[in-house]
Amino acid sequence: MAKAPLSSLYAQFSHRWHSDITRLGYPAAYDELMTSLPATASAPTVLDAGCGTGALAQAWLKTNQPHSALHLLDSSDEMLTQARSNLASVPNTTFHQDTLGCTSIPKNHCDLLLSAHVIEHLDTPQDGLSWFASRLRKGGQIALSISKPHWCTALVRWRWGHKAFTPLQVHTLLTATGFANIQTVPFSKGPPSRTSCGYIATRV
Ligand SMILES: C[S@@+](CC[C@H](N)C(=O)[O-])C[C@H]1O[C@@H](n2cnc3c(N)ncnc32)[C@H](O)[C@@H]1O
Repeated sequence: MAKAPLSSLYAQFSHRWHSDITRLGYPAAYDELMTSLPATASAPTVLDAGCGTGALAQAWLKTNQPHSALHLLDSSDEMLTQARSNLASVPNTTFHQDTLGCTSIPKNHCDLLLSAHVIEHLDTPQDGLSWFASRLRKGGQIALSISKPHWCTALVRWRWGHKAFTPLQVHTLLTATGFANIQTVPFSKGPPSRTSCGYIATRV
């Protein structure tokens, strides 16, 4: 059976994405990632790149830091529709239907960049990480959740086309794209502990 292109898959599953990832424990894992995040600039400008339905941005919002701007960017109109609904009451929030590499988010604009399970879709993941670095101010923080090798991830790859990266590969990619102080944040339980790992780093 021929597989649908990625955009069609996300369009098809957008209405149930949030409940599916919640049942699997991903928002709880994103909460764990946020507990490791150092204090950012007061009232930071935040970007969730490849936001999907907004779960990572929601985890950050639970830290209760006020933000001056929260940007959510995704290539899928259908996923963004869900994100708009999930974050409807959050002030100073802008939704961008666009791809990594776009210029709708200016260079050096963000204090904090969030991204969960997006670079796995890129032909050249370092291009995505370089774009993240370019959107951050020097000293800005990045918080990532990235798939790691595991047989569960192999199933995800078959369905969704995700690549997987070992922590060593992620550290190497982050160092090469302008990040330092790289911290690995393993997830403690459930599917996220098997399929994914969190990372926090500083843009140099
Ligand atoms: C695995 S989902 C993760 C969504 C969300 N971050 C989460 O953790 O639930 C990947 C998301 O990245 C988006 N995406 C894939 N490639 C993209 C690209 N090049 N630019 C922007 N968004 C992209 C997809 O539309 C999808 O919403």
